[in-house]
Amino acid sequence: MKKHLEGKHIVLGITGGIAAYKSAMLLRLLVKAGAEVQVVMTPSAKEFITPVTLSVLSGKPVVSEFFTANSGEWHSHVDLGLWADAMVIAPATACTIGKMANGVADNMLVTTYLSSKAKVFVAPAMDLDMMAHPSTTENLRRLRGYGNIIIEPAEGELASHLVGKGRMEEPEKIVDVLASYFRDKELTSPLAGKKVLVTAGPTREKIDPVRYISNYSTGKMAYAVADELASRGAEVTVVSGPVTVKAAEPSVKVVEVESGREMADACLGLFPASDIAVMCAAVADYTVANPSATKMKREGNLPPEIKLVKNPDIACLLGGMKKPGQLLVGFALETDNEVCNALDKMQRKNLDMIVLNSLRDNGAGFATDTNKVTVFTRGEESPAEFPLKSKREVAADLADMMETRV
Ligand code: PMT
Repeated sequence: MKKHLEGKHIVLGITGGIAAYKSAMLLRLLVKAGAEVQVVMTPSAKEFITPVTLSVLSGKPVVSEFFTANSGEWHSHVDLGLWADAMVIAPATACTIGKMANGVADNMLVTTYLSSKAKVFVAPAMDLDMMAHPSTTENLRRLRGYGNIIIEPAEGELASHLVGKGRMEEPEKIVDVLASYFRDKELTSPLAGKKVLVTAGPTREKIDPVRYISNYSTGKMAYAVADELASRGAEVTVVSGPVTVKAAEPSVKVVEVESGREMADACLGLFPASDIAVMCAAVADYTVANPSATKMKREGNLPPEIKLVKNPDIACLLGGMKKPGQLLVGFALETDNEVCNALDKMQRKNLDMIVLNSLRDNGAGFATDTNKVTVFTRGEESPAEFPLKSKREVAADLADMMETRV
């Protein structure tokens, strides 16, 4: 079951309690299960366990303050909250639980908690009387109301006096809870087991061995879609132009291509066995008719003329091959006349959905970590409009929409 933690991003919050020594074991188990863990400590946690131990175990510097003391570098709690697939606070003292319940954001851990879009797990640790106090009970009730999962030793263990109330759950059991959470998330999605093709990034159209025509796509949007669908149990293959981003989900397969022609060949091979195709790549519409086999020289007075010919329209080709039950999702990157262009593309390419993003919206489109999309669905009158969000959140919105259509 631990395999469900592979590739997951976990923020491990550690607060100042005697059980903090157990968080080193928890961290070790999470890393062993393949998770990437970022530790965030409250200042008082450092009285109980050293950041050095935790940074060695996690392989990452521990975050505790808003700024790095020497460089003044700002640690973004918002970025951390968005990076996380889950946040676990273990041990969680009565003080931190109280701050979380009441939004008292006076340290890095609580600000990260408040910014987190991921599921939050809380393993309380305190003495018996503090745990029994009505304020703690009320704060824990509130956290449950916020959708947080409280991890405590089972009632049976308490009844048999194996452990006392307020004692932190054992690290092995916390890991099991996290692993079951990710497993259930995969099993309960209608996307589980679906075969998905995602196109990503730009294509490069060669002019000669040292030059090419391309565009600004980084693949961030496409890989966010791939990760989100894979986290819901889909079998995802990304046909990817040259990018530096990588899939976080280990199950995502990547077929690397360079030109639009190569991307088309790979997609035409994969599409017949796919349930869903998400065409997120920015494919060059034109390619060079006769790329030079040798480096073009700067000769004569006239600049060389490069003859362009049309690249295959991959989405359109797949639209023509589409069988009942297959879902074809396109993207439209526009600079003007957005809605008309997007609807026209949906029609022409026989898409079931089209995701419009416009370069007129700040923070949307190429290279940003955010995007602002409007999604049109064939046969539905009104589009779904979303505000500016991280690309991973956009991917989650798209996955939610796909879940109702597969
Ligand atoms: O990669 P990022 O930096 O994160 O940026 C994300 C993005 C802006 C690239 C992405 O959100 C996006 O909008 N991708 C589609 C860009 C695009 O080329 O759109 P288009 O309007 O030209 O094409 C319409 C649709 O047809 C797209 O689904 C495209 O993948 C597809 N197409 C286009 C041309 C072609 N020859 N083959 C295609 O399959």
